Amino acid sequence: MNIITATADGSNTLYNETIGEHYHSKHGALQESKHVFIEAGLKFATQHKNEVSILEVGFGTGLNFVLSLDYCTNRQIKLDYTSIEAFPLTTDVINQTGYAEYVSPETWTSFITNYESSLRSAQALTSLCHLEIAAKPLAEFATDKKFDLIYYDAFSVQHQPEMWSDEIIAHVCSFLNPGGIFVTYAITGKLKRAVKACGFTIEKLPGAPGKREMLRAGRSCAKDIPLGKA
Ligand SMILES: C[S@@+](CC[C@H](N)C(=O)[O-])C[C@H]1O[C@@H](n2cnc3c(N)ncnc32)[C@H](O)[C@@H]1O
Repeated sequence: MNIITATADGSNTLYNETIGEHYHSKHGALQESKHVFIEAGLKFATQHKNEVSILEVGFGTGLNFVLSLDYCTNRQIKLDYTSIEAFPLTTDVINQTGYAEYVSPETWTSFITNYESSLRSAQALTSLCHLEIAAKPLAEFATDKKFDLIYYDAFSVQHQPEMWSDEIIAHVCSFLNPGGIFVTYAITGKLKRAVKACGFTIEKLPGAPGKREMLRAGRSCAKDIPLGKA
């Protein structure tokens, strides 16, 4: 059972009673999504590009997706978005989040009208955006595709440790293109070691409000913008 609750920046999140955790930071759902995934992830990954492919772990309410679609639409960036979600929410619950007010009406309508079909196959939401949601656990996800950017938005290690094991991190990192970027709200010594073991360079960035730090990591290639050292 998921319960809608308000966070400190006025935006809502869901509280998942089974896992015992919120879908977003209680310090601000909207702030966290913008800080970690849009600013540190999408903006960084597209600074010299007009197309991007994203793999997200944990589609949930779709907040990261609609903010990404709005960002890309406003800049004419082509967006190919694949997400993995083991427990898809209903359209009704997603509508109740109130997230429609944070993006353009066109972005919200194209998302909400295509949401259920995107759980079955890739959908063209606009001439520049495709969305596909794999309705299965991350461990069962397989594809030949590689992605430019990974949003790792699983529940925390305290509540879902299996989503942070070395094996599952190596599995998700295997889908990243050379020069690609991996971002997540969390940063622990174990996670840094797991990501480094995949051959990634890691960078500690200031976290969203309520978190001191977050992780950005990348698989370097010659023409890549160098990442810092953590
Ligand atoms: C922190 S929430 C994600 C929040 C989401 N990005 C949003 O903006 O609403 C974690 C999500 O991971 C999903 N999840 C849990 N176990 C999973 C698994 N094994 N594979 C894929 N997704 C999983 C949950 O159902 C939940 O939607």
